[in-house]
Amino acid sequence: MKPLARLRLGINIDHVATVRNARGGALPDPLRAALLAEAAGADGITAHLREDRRHIRDADIEALMAGISVPLNFECAATDEMQAIALRHKPHAICLVPEKREERTTEGGLDVAGDATRLAGFIAPLRDAGCRVSMFIGHEAGQIEASAKIGAAVVELHTGRYCDLIAGGETGAACAELEALRLGAIRAHALGLEVHMGHGLDFETASDVAVFPEVAELNIGHFLIGEAVFRGLGPAIEEMRRRIDAARATAKA
Ligand code: PXP
Repeated sequence: MKPLARLRLGINIDHVATVRNARGGALPDPLRAALLAEAAGADGITAHLREDRRHIRDADIEALMAGISVPLNFECAATDEMQAIALRHKPHAICLVPEKREERTTEGGLDVAGDATRLAGFIAPLRDAGCRVSMFIGHEAGQIEASAKIGAAVVELHTGRYCDLIAGGETGAACAELEALRLGAIRAHALGLEVHMGHGLDFETASDVAVFPEVAELNIGHFLIGEAVFRGLGPAIEEMRRRIDAARATAKA
């Protein structure tokens, strides 16, 4: 039994842009938040350029690409417009997410199994450009297998349902969902996919998934940006780092 590899922590800065856009000015600046996150130990910065530009805008992606030293994980829908933007910037990573205009946040996973032919064609030029392509999916076996089949390098398993169940006090259903996430991670890893997890994670729920040896990266945004109001962004990220490292230290490969 050896200690698990260090878990990477990606910080999603979308909601710094949400606050900025609420006033229509330039503050708070998402790049400043990204640089602070880097200094606090983030291994990567995640930003979701939504089709409606409700938080991150095109100029933010340009500023992040030019300004940060850690890898950028560019989240986007699988549309021609986003593919062209991704190919222009060639970020380290591209995470494909489903997008509906009426949703408040990314509500479910991508239907890779139901759209495999189109998605295989969609990701081919991104891979050729040297980007690490990730599929944001649920833990269902069919979605994981389809992601491997179309040549994705990574799957990010959607933890939103688990976090909602915990928040709602539905302990039994939450335990079942956590187990499904664990089995999903094992299945994806066995297929040669790098496994990430994200959405809705806080200190406790992030620790719950940090113990899975197959998980290489967590992407966390909303909770930490909210926590930053109370303790500052750097200390919030440092505390998350401590919590996930401590959880991981209790688990063995
Ligand atoms: N991972 C993916 C693929 C996402 O779409 C999001 C939300 O944009 C996150 C992680 C971060 O979720 P949260 O902001 O709830 O921590």
